[in-house]
Amino acid sequence: MSIHDEVTRRRTFAIISHPDAGKTTLTERLLLFGNLIRSAGTVKGKKTGKYATSDWMEIEKQRGISVTSSVMNFPYNDYQVNILDTPGHEDFSEDTYRTLTAVDSVVMIIDATKGIEAQTIKLFKVCRMRGIPIFTFINKLDREGKEPFELMEEIEQVLDIETYPMNWPAGMGKRFLGIFDRYGEQFIKYNGNEEETVIPYAELDSPDYREMTEHASFSTAQEELELLDEAGDDFSREAVLKGKQTPVFFGSALAPFGVQTFFDTFVSMAPAPTPRKSTEGVVSPDNPDFSGFIFKIQANMNPAHRDRVAFLRVCSGKFERGMTVKLARTGKTIKLAQTQQFVASSRDTVEEAFAGDIIGVYDPNAYRIGDTLIEGKGDFEYAELPQFPPELFKKVTAKNVMKSKQFKKGIDQLVQEGAIQLFKHFRSESYILGAVGELQYDVFKYRMKNEYNVEVMLESIGERIPRWLTADKVDESLFDERNLLVRDREDNYLVLFKNEFSLRWFKDNHPDVELIDLFEVN
Ligand code: G4P
Repeated sequence: MSIHDEVTRRRTFAIISHPDAGKTTLTERLLLFGNLIRSAGTVKGKKTGKYATSDWMEIEKQRGISVTSSVMNFPYNDYQVNILDTPGHEDFSEDTYRTLTAVDSVVMIIDATKGIEAQTIKLFKVCRMRGIPIFTFINKLDREGKEPFELMEEIEQVLDIETYPMNWPAGMGKRFLGIFDRYGEQFIKYNGNEEETVIPYAELDSPDYREMTEHASFSTAQEELELLDEAGDDFSREAVLKGKQTPVFFGSALAPFGVQTFFDTFVSMAPAPTPRKSTEGVVSPDNPDFSGFIFKIQANMNPAHRDRVAFLRVCSGKFERGMTVKLARTGKTIKLAQTQQFVASSRDTVEEAFAGDIIGVYDPNAYRIGDTLIEGKGDFEYAELPQFPPELFKKVTAKNVMKSKQFKKGIDQLVQEGAIQLFKHFRSESYILGAVGELQYDVFKYRMKNEYNVEVMLESIGERIPRWLTADKVDESLFDERNLLVRDREDNYLVLFKNEFSLRWFKDNHPDVELIDLFEVN
């Protein structure tokens, strides 16, 4: 198969959702399609403790995070599917955001009983910033939830994206009859936990289905469909690919119901890897020379070897194990001999990979997040990974002041690696760390102790809202502990506002001070 054909059949995506919306359940269904697991209920390491025997870093064991399940790949029909996990909850970290830089599309799960929740909004914003196409799966139709129109409106209002329902439910919960598949022009009948029945629209008149078609939920859904046809947005693949419209699918991951139709449509509509921006212009995925970038570094996966694995997204050419590549940042060449592909239950060696694939490369402490690796004469770097505004801030000090040298070295390296962000108090120069999730602090503490032999003390200054200042000169007297003035790594000033109220108060009272929200979506 040519490189072009290999690339065209790849679908690399992440599933984003708020905890409990059904990400694990849906992922399991997809893995079943890919024959990666034989029965549902095997992925969920958290509750079953399936991964207790694996050798990940101690902290991961405690939390039950599974690195193996962070990338899952399998062939499905004519496609090669790569699913990237986006950890949530207490496992939420900058890695969660960075993962989204390595995908070509996203599946957003919404719990029909709850609507849009906080974490979904955060992750959605990153997708929006990057123009990533988003496919929506509204889950738990087997339960009584919000009305479909209400859910559509919520998506449009809260997330500011056009919706196009690919299917439409008739009833919900106990009165759930099934879905009208607008795309395939068929009705998919819900039979509880039994297999669903697919009925072409033309056959719905059959007396066999009279009981169902005479049901009030059925006729209501028909009326709603007519309304959608008349007044709803038209489907536009172009808008979908630009991230301006989201195709919406209703279903139930648990039943399972509507999952197969959803996934079949998704793989056929989702984009294959597309060209990527670099310092030397756009690089096509078909380009014969291998290139890729590192979006995540996992330290100490195996405490016995203290190794680190860098997660690399292939962007062009063909990766072959043992090949020699150049690290664009330093110009040094590196042989990629130890590589891993991630499958749900094991870490297999990867022999070859193409654009869209994710491989794990052994990191001899040489890589940084955002690094570009290239084959041949090429000399370019992929666009830097964006910085994500932290929310949780903590002052950090070494327990033992005698260890200040190791303390500084450890912090320097971990910050450079992208494990955590560092800020300095504008006057005292004391260290303040910023993270998007609590996990980052746990990892930080653990690694400082295990790799640099320094015990650290962390003192929370709470959740803060960071806003960068544009002016070079800053009137320091405007700020205090509540609105803390700090400097970032590049010495830019920013203010850590205590809450929305203090931010608003400041804006009202100092309209001349320009504040930048790095996370603002245009
Ligand atoms: P997450 O990974 O997004 O956090 O969600 P997960 O799949 O773990 O699902 C959260 C809960 O919602 C689970 O129940 C799961 O069984 C349930 N669930 C997922 N999809 C559906 C659905 O389509 N319909 C219904 N009714 N429930 C669904 P739990 O009781 O918290 O976990 P468990 O003990 O059953 O595993």
